[in-house]
Parts: sequence; C-alpha cells; structure tokens
Amino acid sequence: MSRRLSPTAILRNGLRFLVPLAIALTVHLYLYPVFSTCGFPLPPSRDGSPAIAMSADTGRAAFIETAKLHWPLPDKPKTNTSRPLAPFRLLALGDPQLEGDTSIPTDYLGTFPHVASLFRHVTLQSHHASLRQRVRECLHDVVDILLEDTFNLLESWRKRIDLFGNDFYLAHIYRTLHWWTKPTHVTVLGDLVGSQWLDDKEFLRRANRYWQRVFRGAERVPDHVATFPAEEYDLTGYLHAEGREEEEDIDAKIWTRRIINVAGNHDIGYAGDINSNRTERFESAFGKVNYELRFELNNTATSAIIPVYDPVSNPTSNLLAPELRIVVLNDMNLDTPALSPELQDATYSFVNSVINTAAAVEFKGHFTVVLTHVPLFKPMGVCVDDPMFDFHEHDGTLKEQNQLSAAASRGFLEGILGMSGDVNAPARGRGRQGIILNGHDHEGCDTWHHINQTIPAGDEKEWEVRRWRQATKMGLVGQEDMPGVREITVRSMMGDFGGNAGLLSVWFDEDTWQWKTEYASCPLGTQHMWWVVHILDLGVLLGVLLSIISVLLVAAGVDVDEVIIEGPPLPCA
Ligand SMILES: *[C@@H]1O[C@H](CO)[C@@H](O)[C@H](O)[C@H]1NC(C)=O
Repeated sequence: MSRRLSPTAILRNGLRFLVPLAIALTVHLYLYPVFSTCGFPLPPSRDGSPAIAMSADTGRAAFIETAKLHWPLPDKPKTNTSRPLAPFRLLALGDPQLEGDTSIPTDYLGTFPHVASLFRHVTLQSHHASLRQRVRECLHDVVDILLEDTFNLLESWRKRIDLFGNDFYLAHIYRTLHWWTKPTHVTVLGDLVGSQWLDDKEFLRRANRYWQRVFRGAERVPDHVATFPAEEYDLTGYLHAEGREEEEDIDAKIWTRRIINVAGNHDIGYAGDINSNRTERFESAFGKVNYELRFELNNTATSAIIPVYDPVSNPTSNLLAPELRIVVLNDMNLDTPALSPELQDATYSFVNSVINTAAAVEFKGHFTVVLTHVPLFKPMGVCVDDPMFDFHEHDGTLKEQNQLSAAASRGFLEGILGMSGDVNAPARGRGRQGIILNGHDHEGCDTWHHINQTIPAGDEKEWEVRRWRQATKMGLVGQEDMPGVREITVRSMMGDFGGNAGLLSVWFDEDTWQWKTEYASCPLGTQHMWWVVHILDLGVLLGVLLSIISVLLVAAGVDVDEVIIEGPPLPCA
C-alpha cells in the first residue's frame, strides 16, 4: 500500500482544498448584503444633485452610507461627503408561506397506513365476498406498502428536513438584512403561513415557528398601537430626519423590532373563506388585520422656520407638519360575494374611515403608505399574474383572485388617495401622495397607475397602468394632468423566487414640501446555495475532527492507516 493514497493523506489533502472553500462560501453567505452592495436608497444630497433615479452611482452611495453605520469608530464630526439616510426605511418582505404538516404525506395519511389494512384482511377483521377478493385486497396492500407507503415515508423525511432548513433560510434573510441595512420599520406583506385550511393546532405551531425561528427577536404590533382611524388621533411615533438620531429615541428603536404583518389569503382565506375564527386566530398571533399608524417627521429645524397650517394662527397655509400615514388593510374581502358580510362591512367601514380622516387633498405634507396583500387590477400582460377570479360552486362566494376588481382598485386610487380623472376636482384631481405595497403574486411587479385628465369629458376616462420603468421612461410620472401612484408588488422571499427583500426609502423634500420615495431589492439567491454551504461546513467540521483524532492517535503510537486498511490489530498477535 503506497503511503500517498493512505486514508489520512486523502483526508488531509481534501481538507486543504475544502477548508478555504468552505470559509469563503460561508463568509459570502453570511455577509451577502455586503457583497451585493445593498442599502436603502438615499435621499438626494443637499448640494442639489438631482440623483433620484436609481443608478450605479446612487446605489454605491447608499452602500457606502450603510457601511458607515457599521464603522466601529466613534462618531466623527459629520463630513461634507456624508449624506443623511431616509427617515423612513421599510424592509418589505413578501409571502414567506411557512409550510407544515399539510405538505408532509405521513402527517395527513399516517405512517404505513396499508400495513394496518393488510393486518385487518389477514386477521379476518374485514368482510369480503370471497377468499379470492380477500387475497386480491391483501396483494393490493402489499403493493401499496412497497410502492406507496415506503415512498411517502422517504418523501416525508425529505420534506421535514426541507421545511426545517427553509425556516432557517428565511431567518437568514431577515436577520442578515436587518443587521446590515438597519431599517426603521419591517413589514411582511401577507401569506405568512402556507394555507388557510389549517386546524387551530397547526396554525399555532406555524405561528410559533414564525416568531421563534424565522423572525426570532421580532415582535408583533401591539393592539393598542394599531389604531382605528379617527378625526382626533395620537401620533404613533416620530421619524428622524438625520437618520442617526433615531438611535436615541427608545420608541423608534422598538419599531425596528416590530413586524407590521399583513393578512394574506393563505392566512385568513379569500372573501369566500374569511370567517371570525380564521380572523381571530390570525389577529391573536400576528396582529390586527386593519389599522393605521401615524408618524410625524421630527424636523424641528424646518417647522420653526416654515409656519404650517393652524386654524387659528395660520389659517391660509396649505402646508401640514410632515406626516407619514401607514394604512394596513385586509383587501381580501373588498370584492364580493363574501362568506361573512359582517367582516366585509368591517373592511368597508375601515376604508371609509381612512378616507374620512385623511387630510383634505388641498393640503401638502402628508404621505400614505398602503400595505396590503392582493394587488390592484391590471390588464393582461402588465405583470406576470393576469386578472383571474374564481367562485365556489356550492355558494357562489369568491374562491380565488389574482388581483382586485377594477372597482375595488378605484377605491384605493380615488378613495384612499383621493385622485380624480377630472381636472376640475379639488386640487385639480391630483389627490394625496402615497405608495401601495403588496405581495400575493410571488414574481413581483413595479407599476405606475395613472389617469389621463386631458381626454375630453365625453370620452371614457379610465385608470391605466404601466410598468414603473416604462412610465418613467415615457415621462408619465409627475406629469401635469396625469395624477398617479406607484404600486410595488414585492417579489416573494421564498427560495424559489430568489429569497428577495424590498428596501423602501421615504424622505421629506422641504423645497416642494412633499415626500419622495425610492425602492431597491436585495435578493439572497435560491435556497440551494444555503444548503450547499451548510452541508459543506458540516462535512468540513467532521473532516477536521477526524484528522485531529488521527493526529492524536498517531501521537499515541497507533498507525491509523494500518488500522483503517487492515482492520484493528489482534489483541495477542
Ligand atoms: C392623453 O390624452 C390626450 C387626449 O386624448 C392625448 O392626446 C394624449 O396623448 C394622452 N396622453 C398619454 C400619455 O396617453
């Protein structure tokens, strides 16, 4: 036996190659937002460079400012090159869809169910017309044990390992991005779990996995904070214009840990499934399905200089103190027919209250972020999902929908955001500023809804929608006589969709007294790389352990290679 091919030599040579590889891949995986140069988009710098559109340069600047947050040195005096972060930085995650027993065959079929059946036939506990029938059933069962039960058992093991790893894969996205990008707020845009047909026990199990494993360290929005819209309201909290001051605001810090959960069809069902039990268990585990939050910009420097509207001292101003309103909306029962008219009414009255308590369209300074699940109506071909409606056969209620109906979508555009196709409407129909974020379609889509006010009054004026990139290229965004709103359908964070995450920045522009937004994505990549890295690490650790043992044995005078190749020496050779 040649020395060069001895097992310990192979192990050592293998490790020499695999250890650096494992380290490199692990570092890359655990610092992926750094290697992908991710960061929340930055507001344009104060020196006036109009860098609003995302380009390689703005992306790099965002990355550099994000990296500065991790600089281990104490605060330096601010240099001219420093650019402030956006005061509102939302980490937006789509459709984690935690699977569970509903995708494990042995959990819903039982383990080797045909063995029990075979046992009954053989022990004469079942009834058959003839011996021939009994033998036939027995042979059927034997075939099923071999070709079905065994397969299902193996598949169940594979699926269990897969689910276990998937929880940690999703957790890796949340933990790593949260650490690196330092969001001020986090939202999960519906479909937190994978099915609305779960029994209560399995629902609780998945809610536990959600909070204990995937979003470990995070907490739900407490009910007393998630308020119903009212004319007189208390602020939820403050946003900090300079970005870094929020470190000192304890309430702002709590918000970085909270997750603004949106209800999805897999959580509570579509309109035809939503009942009080599904809604209540969702609300107790993840937070309310309908509520609003109001954050004011802590911007004492400006508001001291620019007097905002006040009914007594400054009644002629149309400027309001800069405020960001977050509307969390269950939009699965906006369309009809719904199973529960009461719960549908709850949604309708919530939407009406959102509209009635919004600032009049003539005022400037407020901005609405709508977080919901099912995307707005779009004609075929705009996004990956085309319009689709399906109804239950037994009672005609809504069974499934890819998008909202055009009428329900108008509720967002003309109701919540108050826009209008009529140029003679209040504030020329331009409505309130806002942005709509949702999930549901998994593929993601970034669009601009707009209405052409210059079409003559007699002709049909309809809401149109284009991809964001196309709308900006055509110069439609911000055009006179064309009010509009951006809707971002966030691509899913599931491995099959590349482990995506959305980074939404919203900041206040004092010159125009308007809020501005920008959006970026930071995908981790499919789950396969996550598995490869962890299996490789495990293998390398095992290899290192073995080679340490072999070194110790050699030191103790045992010839390891001899032992492995020729078996242990006989005790009294
Ligand atoms: C808006 O409508 C007017 C009048 O019909 C038309 O001339 C114009 O091209 C339209 N604009 C866009 C961007 O479609």
